[in-house]
Amino acid sequence: MGRMHTNRIYLFVALLLLTIFAVAACAPNPRAQLISPDMVPEVKGQAFVPPTPTPLPDINNLSEEEIYAGLPADVVALLPGDPAHGEQLATSAGCVGCHRLDDSNTVVAPSWGGVAHQAVTRVAGESPALYFYQSITEPNAYVVNGYNSGIMPQNYNDILSPQDIVDIVSYMLTQRGQ
Ligand code: HEC
Repeated sequence: MGRMHTNRIYLFVALLLLTIFAVAACAPNPRAQLISPDMVPEVKGQAFVPPTPTPLPDINNLSEEEIYAGLPADVVALLPGDPAHGEQLATSAGCVGCHRLDDSNTVVAPSWGGVAHQAVTRVAGESPALYFYQSITEPNAYVVNGYNSGIMPQNYNDILSPQDIVDIVSYMLTQRGQ
């Protein structure tokens, strides 16, 4: 009889603890954010005005002249270039060893997925074709944010012909997926 009684006390205590935990679990979290994230925060009594987002560059909005602007005359003479040959060179010259065509790996070098759009605004006043040409012939002239200079081979100007470089540029101008 005494043992039955003790068992009941244990059962009661266990149920009591369970109830306490259940109630505690339902209590509101005092640190929970009660303000919904889309409620406009007030800054010194003034309504917060979100900054106008800068539209992404789009090479498709540029004319041919704008795409090739600023290239030296001897390079212009080699236009329009052969993008299919440029694509082969991107493999044989080792570009795709560092640059991916999608965003699967951007650790070593910036990806070429949509790079034609990026080229529109990389350097103020430089057309995308000029930017690509310079990126290959003088890689350290402009270093993409988040990357180090001196990683990209510096000797493409010596090992590739001017026509090869123009062909690679014309291939890179086709990288418009985004
Ligand atoms: C050993 C690795 C490596 C190889 C090989 C390489 N690159 Fe690069 N490249 C980089 C790195 C790192 C950067 C970013 C730093 C900079 O701007 O120099 C870069 C930047 C660039 C950029 C600028 C990209 C942007 O988003 O603005 C272009 C264009 C480019 N490379 C073209 C080429 C071409 C074409 C080849 C082959 C002929 C090539 N790269 C081979 C590492 C490499």
